[in-house]
Amino acid sequence: MTQLTGQTRTEPDISGLETELSNQSPQKILERALSLFDNIAISFSGAEDVVLIDMAYRMNRAVKVFSLDTGRLHPETYQFIDRVRKHYGIEIEIMFPDAAQVEALVRAKGLFSFYEDGHKECCDIRKVAPLRRKLSTLDAWITGQRKDQNPSTRASVPVVQVDTAFSSGDRPLIKFNPLSNWTSADVWMYIRSYEVPYNALHERGFISIGCEPCTRPVLPNQHEREGRWWWEDAGKKECGLHAINQTQP
Ligand code: ADX
Ligand code: SF4
Repeated sequence: MTQLTGQTRTEPDISGLETELSNQSPQKILERALSLFDNIAISFSGAEDVVLIDMAYRMNRAVKVFSLDTGRLHPETYQFIDRVRKHYGIEIEIMFPDAAQVEALVRAKGLFSFYEDGHKECCDIRKVAPLRRKLSTLDAWITGQRKDQNPSTRASVPVVQVDTAFSSGDRPLIKFNPLSNWTSADVWMYIRSYEVPYNALHERGFISIGCEPCTRPVLPNQHEREGRWWWEDAGKKECGLHAINQTQP
């Protein structure tokens, strides 16, 4: 494997890397990702992502972090994002949607169109387009996805993959999912052990947290994903950030 920098990038052997890392700890995967790529960033919104930020912090590795502000997050989520920024003394790049696109959608269909015709149109404007804009500046990104977050769509999430959904032309974008093999229990064990900041909504029955109108708390023994887009089928509960999960076997 060649050292990859923005200047002297060579094609990474991703399947070899996947074989090498698939049974490694998240720390080892993260370390390898940060060593291989300079132009890499963590995509941050929830508990898992702060675990990754914390791991990088404990390794003394500077890491770029960005977050997608859809304009529809809970107040607690905004407070959480800022708490993380201060706790680790890091910059968090907040990506906003295109104002004209949001205005056109809201003018045509109101503020809650997703309850009537599905979440795709709103997610495309508020999340996917800003993500695409950010990813076009990166060689690789790191997410907090776990296999057990969604049995319908995430059961095969590898620890590293070529993100064909966001690669452009001859420029492959690499996606690392260091927590892929961790369970929710592993994540929360880490959070408690290292006193990692978390979203206050977790104290009120929320597990998986997205936008305020599309997230609700779950009951005991309900799967965490049941609190997201609850009016839609389980197989549709992806907003497009991880479109590759629905294109690969
Ligand atoms: S989602 O696609 O259904 O919204 P989920 O909430 O499960 O995703 O989070 C999985 C991973 O996607 C997170 O660990 C994070 O890396 C990324 N992610 C999700 N939402 C955002 C966001 N608003 N900003 C940045 N990254 C996000
Ligand atoms: Fe819009 Fe809901 Fe998607 Fe947020 S999760 S971007 S509010 S449809």
